[in-house]
Amino acid sequence: PRRVTVAELREMKRRGEKIAALTAYDYLFARLVDGAGVDVVLVGDSLGQVILGLDTTVPVTLDDMIHHARAVRRGVERALLVVDLPFLTYQVSREDALRNAGRVLQETGAQAVKLEGGSPEIADTVAALVRAGIPVMGHLGFTPQSVHVQGVRVQGKGEEAAERMMAEARRLEQAGAFSVVLELVPGPLAAAVTESVSIPTIGIGAGVGCDGQVLVLHDMLGLNTGFNPRFLRRFADVGQAVTDGVGEYVRTVKDGAYPGPEHTFE
Ligand code: KIV
Ligand code: NA
Repeated sequence: PRRVTVAELREMKRRGEKIAALTAYDYLFARLVDGAGVDVVLVGDSLGQVILGLDTTVPVTLDDMIHHARAVRRGVERALLVVDLPFLTYQVSREDALRNAGRVLQETGAQAVKLEGGSPEIADTVAALVRAGIPVMGHLGFTPQSVHVQGVRVQGKGEEAAERMMAEARRLEQAGAFSVVLELVPGPLAAAVTESVSIPTIGIGAGVGCDGQVLVLHDMLGLNTGFNPRFLRRFADVGQAVTDGVGEYVRTVKDGAYPGPEHTFE
């Protein structure tokens, strides 16, 4: 299958075709997700929580991201592959950002990076990356790398905060970002941002008015029990399937039903 490009995502927005994005962190899940038809696969720094068991994305390193992205890349044929730049790999200097984003593309085979925030400094960094040939997805609203400043809460509430987010989205568009994630944003604001920029918005907890949707794979598959925010829909109960399957395995091993003669080499 031909690979989805950043230009095609813009074209989808123009046509009014919704963009379906999901995260993946390893080869086999990436192959399943890509084969099921998602347009964008994101190697999110959410791997800190769902793969590494960390409390936040803050401790995730560039080497962690590259390690997982290399595995994901081998499973993705069609979707556009985007990799998160983790905390402190793009905020310190433009040079840092260029080298680190360049490493991601060179060492993983991904087509784009994602970074958080919409300040003038971040927008300058986005512009520099794009000039160097690195497509950038933005990320506004709740930005988990700033969890210790923001707390986990809906962002852009109130007129001033809403206007700030609108300005940040326009700034990212101006800087050349090809798309922007909106996380934990009131539905009306996300819809207004979506209308006011030409680049596609990808929502997570941002209502029905975005150009696309992204979820954390392990959350939407029901693997991450105990995480039940309002925006999340469980599309499968893989966690229960694993518990049932492993439980049955343990029982049959212990009672001698497995392995049987039919599993035995003569
Ligand atoms: O890390 C991640 O999974 C993300 C998505 C939730 C947008 O940034
Ligand atoms: Na992320």
